[in-house]
Amino acid sequence: MAARPDKHRPSSLAFASQAVHAGNRVDEGSGAIRTPLVMANSYALPEDPSTMSWSGTDVPLYTRNSGATQLALQEKLAALDGGADAVALASGVAALHAVFFTFVGTGDHVVVSDVTYEATWRLFAELLPKKYGVEVSFVDAADPAAVAAAVRENTRLVHVETIANPTTKVADIAALARVAHAGGALLSVDSTFTPPPLYRPLADGADLVVHSLTKYINGHGDAMGGAVVGSRELIGRIRSEAMVDVGGVISPFNAWLILRGSITLPLRLRQHLATARELAELLDRDRRIAFVAHPALPSHPQHDLAARQFGGRGFGAVISFAVDGDPAAQNRFVAGLRLITSAVSLGHDESLIVHVGTDGPRVAAYPPGFRRYGHLRLSVGLEDAADLAADIRAALDHTFDG
Ligand SMILES: Cc1ncc(COP(=O)(O)O)c(C=O)c1O
Repeated sequence: MAARPDKHRPSSLAFASQAVHAGNRVDEGSGAIRTPLVMANSYALPEDPSTMSWSGTDVPLYTRNSGATQLALQEKLAALDGGADAVALASGVAALHAVFFTFVGTGDHVVVSDVTYEATWRLFAELLPKKYGVEVSFVDAADPAAVAAAVRENTRLVHVETIANPTTKVADIAALARVAHAGGALLSVDSTFTPPPLYRPLADGADLVVHSLTKYINGHGDAMGGAVVGSRELIGRIRSEAMVDVGGVISPFNAWLILRGSITLPLRLRQHLATARELAELLDRDRRIAFVAHPALPSHPQHDLAARQFGGRGFGAVISFAVDGDPAAQNRFVAGLRLITSAVSLGHDESLIVHVGTDGPRVAAYPPGFRRYGHLRLSVGLEDAADLAADIRAALDHTFDG
């Protein structure tokens, strides 16, 4: 069956239209109107393959280079973040590692936010310095002047999270891009907490945007993946150095699930953001809560920056807080929840909560409330907001009166 001409021009379309159409193709073989799941490892070679590059990544060749389903996902992710190119990998951590592996070597210096997802922290606090002699400065990413002061002659990379996991500290990406570029370094931004259309860091000058696709972009809690979006030149280097030769490639099935999940990203995100704001305000009003960290609250140190940077579209959908009590009280609260599930991860359709303690060297950079009480990290899902509020109120009653 003949393929229909490609009638979609995603770059000229609004975000919701791109979320439906970008990366989608009519399948030439079957005429199916959705990009198919192609589980094959290998693709038919041309008559004379002897001059082909075995590290090529553009035409279907081998799934570690360029599986058909992963090519479609990459095209879609580049469109959604407004980048020229994207590389999809097996997990968010594989994507982070791919950036660090590709752009940082022995003797290079990196400035990293003092609050990041824990695997990022471990990579920079332990593995990269110990194994490869990488020099690292952990700096308050909410203070561009402090980041500028930490940049050295051999700084190759500045790495931050838009909204940091777990304290919700917000980084000023435009200011940090100026600082990084003035020092001849790249700015890589983990935007997992702020997927598009909430925020597109490339438009503010970031060089590389990293996402854990496992979270909002897939959104259904049933697939792992990671991605880096940026220029053709930078992404091409990551593909050839970290994907083809290190091999943390995404599976076709996960790429297909994420392509499918991402269709509803703008709709889901709107709901996540609205409910999170409502719940952050509810928690903030309750005298049984010790502290609440969420950028929507006027008391958040970067509230104004977040309002400006995210264009009023929202403030993320992860809330960190603690009930006013000891670790047993935090556990009693979680045990009292009936709708919200105690499990790690975030950005799923289902609301998830995890009780995190006060131990470990990472915690030294957290605000005082986090250090005193530990924290509960709540990823606000897509359930009805009133049901979630009722669940939280009942668990608070259970914790303090039960
Ligand atoms: C901000 C952030 N970046 C990266 C990751 C890692 O993603 P993955 O679990 O897909 O490897 C996470 C996971 O929670 C995260 O919160």
